Amino acid sequence: MRIAILYQSLRGGTKKLAESLGTNFQSKGSSVGVFPITNYDAQFVLDADLIVIGTWTDGLFGLGARPGQIGKLNTLRDIAHKDVALFVTYEISPEKSLNGLIEWAHDRSANVVTSAGFKVRGPFRKNIEGDIQMFVENSLSPVEQN
Ligand SMILES: Cc1cc2nc3c(=O)[nH]c(=O)nc-3n(C[C@H](O)[C@H](O)[C@H](O)COP(=O)(O)O)c2cc1C
Repeated sequence: MRIAILYQSLRGGTKKLAESLGTNFQSKGSSVGVFPITNYDAQFVLDADLIVIGTWTDGLFGLGARPGQIGKLNTLRDIAHKDVALFVTYEISPEKSLNGLIEWAHDRSANVVTSAGFKVRGPFRKNIEGDIQMFVENSLSPVEQN
């Protein structure tokens, strides 16, 4: 399985998570490339069986949360009919930003196989190893069945 992971990060948390996801996909036997969404290997992404796309949650901590720096995500080339797995990082709640990201992918006619939020910072620090494992499994199994 060839997996392209594309991330947008402001302060490094989303980048670090993208790299951890990459290591995990690799340990399951996938060939992985991890790139900032504004600077990726186009051929690698084109050949990928799955594109993982992630950004951080922007908002007012509770109000009007949305996917961070969506303008950067909009520079991504055509992903119509591609299998994509989506994630957001957050501190308080991933719900609105994740829904926004899912809507963004649907607007581009991508096939969303799974999505998840990861709490990489903030109060009530949480061990996200299990969340990472689950995301990777939920990403791989629908694509492997194709
Ligand atoms: C300007 C700004 C607004 C944010 N708003 C929210 C928010 O509304 N809800 C939330 O859960 N996290 C919010 N966060 C937290 C970030 O989504 C979280 O720390 C994320 O992991 C940062 O990723 P990064 O380190 O890749 O930039 C906000 C962070 C910033 C800088």
